[in-house]
Amino acid sequence: MGAQQVADRFAELYGAGPEGVWAAPGRVNLIGEHTDYNDGFVMPFALPHQAVAAVSRRTDGVLRLHSADIGGDITELRLDDLAPGGDHDWTAYPAGVVWALREAGHEITGADVHLASTVPTGAGLSSSAALEVVIALALNDLYGLGLKGWRLARLCQRAENVYVGAPTGIMDQTASACCEAGHALFLDTRDLSQRQIPFDLAAAGLRLLVVDTQVKHAHSGGEYGKRRAGCEKGAALLGVDALRDIPYDGLDAALARLGDEEEVVRLVRHVVTENERVERTVALLRAGDPRAIGPVLTEGHASLRDDFRISCPELDLVVDTALAGGALGARMTGGGFGGSAIVLAEAADVETLTKSVEAAFAAAGLTAPRVFEAVPSAGARRLV
Ligand code: GLA
Repeated sequence: MGAQQVADRFAELYGAGPEGVWAAPGRVNLIGEHTDYNDGFVMPFALPHQAVAAVSRRTDGVLRLHSADIGGDITELRLDDLAPGGDHDWTAYPAGVVWALREAGHEITGADVHLASTVPTGAGLSSSAALEVVIALALNDLYGLGLKGWRLARLCQRAENVYVGAPTGIMDQTASACCEAGHALFLDTRDLSQRQIPFDLAAAGLRLLVVDTQVKHAHSGGEYGKRRAGCEKGAALLGVDALRDIPYDGLDAALARLGDEEEVVRLVRHVVTENERVERTVALLRAGDPRAIGPVLTEGHASLRDDFRISCPELDLVVDTALAGGALGARMTGGGFGGSAIVLAEAADVETLTKSVEAAFAAAGLTAPRVFEAVPSAGARRLV
């Protein structure tokens, strides 16, 4: 989606060109799943797919929103009427950001917005975070709010948690706001410290495929919240602030203390081992050994499937088919219950692997998956 195209459409809709055009990407998470609301480690990278927004300020307390992807009329909202809760459509993401900014004391007097996004929705690739971050960045720049990086991400997370009502962590918004091309972001979600880890798979003769199973997921649905509540229960039973505080070498002792709390045992085991997998992945990449992360990704999938129990038959089919076809590693990515899997493979194997996953879906009578290569891309930025 070109900046000029979005700016031109803005001018048609609102009668004058925008003050600027911004972009914010979707993400895939390489490793570190369901660790962010446990103060743990994550390692996402930005996709080339992005939300692009043309925006101008207004002075009359009105927010006007239009999406190229949804079409239809311009939605007009009064800033003073914005309030969390209620039934929401896509406008809740930009409106929630405006609400969160104003609630944090930033003076926003209105905006005209036209948006277009290439991030697949409901695919576990953070299409909603991309929408939030692109609006937050545009308003930050236009209103001179001085918000950057994780501060911007925090406000977007608040929009999603409180305004939209989805109890998600901080990973997606931080990834969209802070990722850099050619790198994965090693993020400590406790203090939000960040390291950009060089992640140039092509140079190593490798590829990372994203396989969107086309099974739609929704985070405001109950299962995500149940897992989160279960993790909080685990932390409370173990007397720690967050599961992050259980060290990997203290896992067995912690599990023993949980006794017959079978479900909590599984959740805690996933979170603690997943944090260790992120640290192992970082160490392997720093040592220049990207092939060796394959088995770590696959271990992560088994943990999400068996302990955290958030995979689904379609995600398992991608992983099993890819591994049987010689992939180096594969796992589901994102919140789970559908969405996408990632497959790490030798460049030479990509075509065969793609065909075998497609064939497996066809044989099982499933909707054809969408397969594309993920190249670590730039985070949110102003385009014009
Ligand atoms: C969703 C949430 C994130 C994170 C992942 C699971 O993408 O938005 O905060 O919890 O699920 O890792």
